[in-house]
Amino acid sequence: MDQKNNLRPLGRTKMMVSPIGLGSWQFSKQNNLAGKFWPTLEDDLINKVVSISLEGGINWFDTAEVYGNGASEKALAKALQTAGKKPGDILIATKWWPMFRFAGNIPKSIDVRIQTLTPYPIDLYQVHQPWGFSGEKAEMTAMAALWDRKLIKNIGVSNFSAQKMKTAWETLDKKGIPLASNQVLYNLLNRKIESNGTLEMAKKLDISIIAYSPLAQGLVTGKFHDNPALLKNIGLRKYSSQFKPEGLEKSKPVVMLVKELALKYNVTPSQIALNWLINYHGNTVVAIPGATKEHHAKENTGSLSFRLSDADMVRLDEVSAIFK
Ligand SMILES: NC(=O)c1ccc[n+]([C@@H]2O[C@H](COP(=O)([O-])OP(=O)(O)OC[C@H]3O[C@@H](n4cnc5c(N)ncnc54)[C@H](OP(=O)(O)O)[C@@H]3O)[C@@H](O)[C@H]2O)c1
Repeated sequence: MDQKNNLRPLGRTKMMVSPIGLGSWQFSKQNNLAGKFWPTLEDDLINKVVSISLEGGINWFDTAEVYGNGASEKALAKALQTAGKKPGDILIATKWWPMFRFAGNIPKSIDVRIQTLTPYPIDLYQVHQPWGFSGEKAEMTAMAALWDRKLIKNIGVSNFSAQKMKTAWETLDKKGIPLASNQVLYNLLNRKIESNGTLEMAKKLDISIIAYSPLAQGLVTGKFHDNPALLKNIGLRKYSSQFKPEGLEKSKPVVMLVKELALKYNVTPSQIALNWLINYHGNTVVAIPGATKEHHAKENTGSLSFRLSDADMVRLDEVSAIFK
């Protein structure tokens, strides 16, 4: 089977995505606080990362308003145009930022989002965090109104608990709209969605999980374990306990197995980690690794070209079970 063309629907929608998409937080150009997390990438590099991702079989891209206050959306749209992609050739997921805002901001700000992503339509519009002043019912009602007006094609949430996700699903279901996805932190070094009910509820309601930080921001590849000198230049990641000595020690057994399997399959550690994510739970989980270098994009799309055996997936499950 040509795994590269093995597209999956997001939830019960008609949005067919490659199991790997490209995360575009890295395209924020340090334009606001959230954007300061990553170094500024020049347009030329962004164009290359996007074109390599397309060549590797990726058909969708995740971005957000808060990634550089539109800088990521703009750079992404420009890179897709440079790659010769027409509206409809690829899919775009972006997000509304709810902090200090009411649901009324959703219709108010949609024109700016559409303009920033021009000429590409919004295939998936997600509520970025469950922090809005109005709550998920009002937000989903506002999203549904955009859907009715055909301004967005599908609706998702992000960082929603099982309960909030269920309420969002119910609100949309009453209007005959499926909730496509919940975008959450999920990787071999953070499996909390498996113990807090989120994954179980997503499976029950047929909602896709979009795994963000699927490489634990590079940690699971073992590059920081192998070369601690790299830790001097990790920006704000230095504040995460996972990147501190005890954190590195705790993740070591997982990293060692990931590396062992990389040798066995003749692939890279990143490809092992991503392959586990997109296959271990059937079609429920898709992943959106970010990239700051061309080789990241090449490697990450390569995770679409093979499949871990069930026995090896179980080994990864067992060694990383402490992170549930
Ligand atoms: N919804 C949310 O709240 C939320 C939160 C976070 C992220 N996201 C989305 O998810 C996407 C991915 O998450 P993320 O960027 O936090 O984490 P990630 O994808 O796990 O990690 C990306 C980082 O890992 C390193 N990397 C990537 N590919 C690699 C490879 N093949 N080999 C070695 N290192 C590699 C790079 O680090 P270096 O740059 O240091 O080389 C890269 O910047 C984001 O772009 C964004 O679209 C969403």
